[in-house]
Amino acid sequence: MRKKLIVANWKMYKTPDEARAYIAAFLPLVKEHNRGDIVLCPNFVCIPTVVDALRGSAIGAGGQDLSWEKEGPYTGEVSAHMLRAVGCSHVIIGHSERRQLFGETDDGVNRKVKAALAAGLQPIVCVGEVLAEREAGLTEDVLRRQCGIAFREIGGDDAAPLIMAYEPVWAIGTGKNATPEMAAEAHGVIRAEAAKACGEEVAQNLRILYGGSVKPENAASLMDQSEIDGALVGGASLDPQSFAAIVKY
Ligand code: PGA
Repeated sequence: MRKKLIVANWKMYKTPDEARAYIAAFLPLVKEHNRGDIVLCPNFVCIPTVVDALRGSAIGAGGQDLSWEKEGPYTGEVSAHMLRAVGCSHVIIGHSERRQLFGETDDGVNRKVKAALAAGLQPIVCVGEVLAEREAGLTEDVLRRQCGIAFREIGGDDAAPLIMAYEPVWAIGTGKNATPEMAAEAHGVIRAEAAKACGEEVAQNLRILYGGSVKPENAASLMDQSEIDGALVGGASLDPQSFAAIVKY
């Protein structure tokens, strides 16, 4: 049985003060919760505040992106080692907003996944089709391509910390979520690709999250699918009450 994981992707929202106030409100709401794991992914400048405010809880912190380089003259970039140094356990890689708005490529995603794993971070790798691809019947092809490249040169035990997130792009921030059946089908494709690249054991233990307009009202029906191992939550994670309701679905 894979333990569920619920991840908050705060995107480019919140200052350190706002992050601290959020966590002060959130922690009491999930105090008794131990059924699944929780990770908060704030923007880079909020990470130290979030790590500090979460101290003593079982909740982890993660970055929303990283550089594949260790260090060097790369203005604006943050390395895996730096994320580790400020207390991150996870990092989101290949979010569709990075792919669509900032030119992230499948190859870049692969390099970032390798850098994260090498530094001991758990990558949360996002894949998913845009609406035109779904309508043209290309969802499976897109997922196979994105996963195939993301998993390149990542073998066996090294791949064990990997986490995937299926995020259909048409469902992100739109209020439209994939049906639990659509998500379960896509998760099956991702798991099959993982088995091919990383072996059956890694694939069976791989947690595949669903992301795209997850909210308190639809969390239970999605999480009830045995193929869905958790959620990556954007908009609805910005409010502590609503994120707590999702965590406790
Ligand atoms: P959303 O975003 O929950 O606001 O749709 C999800 C995501 O982008 O990870």
